[in-house]
Amino acid sequence: MTSRRLPSWAELSPLLRPKPLELDPVKRRLARAVTIGDLRDIARRQVPRAVFDYVDGAAEEETSLRRTREAFQKVEFIPQVLRDVSSVDPSTKILGKPSALPLVFAPTGFTRMMNTEGEPAVARVAQNTGIPYALSTMGTTALEVLAEAAPQARRWFQLYLWKDRAASRDLIARARAAGYEALVLTVDTPIAGARQRDVRNGMTIPPALTLKTFFDGALHPAWWFNLLTTEPLSFASLNSWNGTVAELVATMFDPSVTFADLEWLRSEWNGPLVVKGIQSVEDAREVVERGADALVISNHGGRQLDRAPTPLEQLPAIVQAVGDRAEIYLDSGILSGADIIAAVALGATACLVGRAYLYGLMAGGQRGVQRSADILNKEIIRTMQLLGVKTIAELSPARLRLRD
Ligand SMILES: Cc1cc2nc3c(=O)[nH]c(=O)nc-3n(C[C@H](O)[C@H](O)[C@H](O)COP(=O)(O)O)c2cc1C
Repeated sequence: MTSRRLPSWAELSPLLRPKPLELDPVKRRLARAVTIGDLRDIARRQVPRAVFDYVDGAAEEETSLRRTREAFQKVEFIPQVLRDVSSVDPSTKILGKPSALPLVFAPTGFTRMMNTEGEPAVARVAQNTGIPYALSTMGTTALEVLAEAAPQARRWFQLYLWKDRAASRDLIARARAAGYEALVLTVDTPIAGARQRDVRNGMTIPPALTLKTFFDGALHPAWWFNLLTTEPLSFASLNSWNGTVAELVATMFDPSVTFADLEWLRSEWNGPLVVKGIQSVEDAREVVERGADALVISNHGGRQLDRAPTPLEQLPAIVQAVGDRAEIYLDSGILSGADIIAAVALGATACLVGRAYLYGLMAGGQRGVQRSADILNKEIIRTMQLLGVKTIAELSPARLRLRD
């Protein structure tokens, strides 16, 4: 039998370390977030359901998105031991220039709807972190305004080709004039994917004040207050819109785009050209032959074609086919630094993340995005140390296998 006694005050007092009360609610919220999943949980409580679902959701049965996550779960790392990992260097080169991490913030539309700090907040975090950020054609901050907000950031501009080609040409000229480093042509969106959560939620841009959203507003007063008391949502590249995302895409986007248009773009833009949304070896070869400097293997975070190929599974064959002629990036479903390390080990130069920083943005504006970047940074470094890898260049397919 264990004999018991009462602890003395001298034993107890060192254990009592009450934390100072954090009065800033954003800091208090963010301090609880240890993973991107934690930021997602916080985000869900901060914004109206339709906004959260617009970010979190994917197309049709959301099979593409689920499978991208399952593929990352299948990764089994093979560490090397006794390698002195007291300091590791996660920096790399992207498009020939230094990047602090093998990470790019992906282009996302309507970003100011998630939190009114919007694209400038994301670009400033990219600037502080030392990684590139791609502003979307569907962004809610003009590309000149963004350039002023984050003058030192590596800024890329993501292009959707409009039916109105003269308007597209105008956008390209503005991107050039405002010092954007690279163009990213997204090719997986001839039409909008069927995001069923958005249809059920009656999601429109800008969000409409209906009876349902009015009641939801009562649950998220800070979000509505911010939306209604700051600059109205306007677009980087079109005047205004009132309707659903699918209607917007159907009106503006050009489903007749072909490889000839890629050649046209190549002749219009002499900086680095990235093609985003490649899902097969054949298409990878085709776009590289027509002048792409880099490509993004992506199923658009599962938001376009459902039951699409899983980027991590496509990666080795695409690296083998064109990896000597173009940089290869990967996105969709990335929620941790370990996911990024796995993709880089299999041959990607870098990964893009969308939701991972948008959850942070919804959870706490720029500070939330910074939290996302810090979490990913820490996880990348920790994974490298535990893998016994000191530099990004040392990562190779030998460091992992995919379990059945
Ligand atoms: C809310 C949201 C909006 C997006 N808008 C765009 C866009 O305007 N242009 C684009 O090329 N990709 C867009 N994407 C796709 C992202 O660039 C990226 O491919 C995707 O988010 C990667 O998956 P992840 O969110 O799981 O990281 C969007 C993604 C999300 C989540």
